[in-house]
Amino acid sequence: AAEQFEHGALSGLRVFITAGPTREPLDPVRYISNHSSGKMGYALAEAAVDAGASVKLISGPVTLTPPSRVDCVQVETAEEMLAASLDGIAGCDLFIAAAAVADYRPISVAEHKIKKGNEEIMELRLTKNPDIVATVAGLSEQRPYTVGFAAETRDVIGYARSKLARKGLDLIVANDVSNPDIGFNSDDNAVTLVSADDEVALPQASKRQLARQLIEQIAQHYHQSTK
Ligand code: CTP
Ligand code: CA
Repeated sequence: AAEQFEHGALSGLRVFITAGPTREPLDPVRYISNHSSGKMGYALAEAAVDAGASVKLISGPVTLTPPSRVDCVQVETAEEMLAASLDGIAGCDLFIAAAAVADYRPISVAEHKIKKGNEEIMELRLTKNPDIVATVAGLSEQRPYTVGFAAETRDVIGYARSKLARKGLDLIVANDVSNPDIGFNSDDNAVTLVSADDEVALPQASKRQLARQLIEQIAQHYHQSTK
C-alpha cells in the first residue's frame, strides 16, 4: 500500500469531491431533493485514495458507507455543501463535483409543519441555489483544478461543452442519463471526459471501474496543466 501511495497518479495531492443529492427543506418534515445515489462520487473518492490522494468527500444524504481513509463531511443543503466545499479550499489541488445539487430551494423554511388548506392548487416559491463548482472554479486565489459533471438527456456533448465554458471548468464528465441502464441509480455508467481541446469516451462499465479510469484520466490532465 505504501508503494501504491508513492507511485499513485494522485500521490501527495489533496482532493475534494462532492457527492449525492442535496436536500432542501420546506418545513420540519418535508424537503425537495432528487434521485442521486452518490455511487459515482463515492467510487471516485475510493479511486482517488487508492491513487495516493488525501480525500475530503462532501456528501449529501445517501445510504452508502464512506470508503475507509476518506474524510467524509455530511451535509444536507446546497448552502451547507458550498460552505463545506470552501472550508480548506486553499489547500485543495483538485476539486471534483459529482453531486446532484438542487438547483432551487424553497424561498423560506416554515417553522412549523405546513397544514393542508382548502385550495386544490398549492404553489411553492423557490430561489436559486449557489453554484458550488462555478464558485470554486471562479476563485481568484488558490483555485484548484476543477472538474464538473454534466447529466444530460440530449445533445450531451454540446451541453457539457457549454457548461465547461460557462462555469470556467478545466474538465467536465458528460453523462447521458436518457439511457436507463446507466446514470443516476444504476450500478453502471458510461461517460465522455470533455476538455477544451479533447474528448475521451469511457464505455459502459461498473461505476467502480469507471471511477478508476476517470481518476487516471483526470490525473493525466491535471499533471499536464501543471507542467
Ligand atoms: N453544480 C454545482 N452547484 C449547483 C448546480 C450544479 O456545483 N448549484 C455542479 C454539479 O455538481 C455538476 C455541474 O455543476 O458538477 C453540472 O450540474 P448540472 O445540474 O448538470 O448543471 P446546471 O448548471 O445546474 O444546469 P442544468 O441543471 O440546467 O442542466
Ligand atoms: Ca442542475
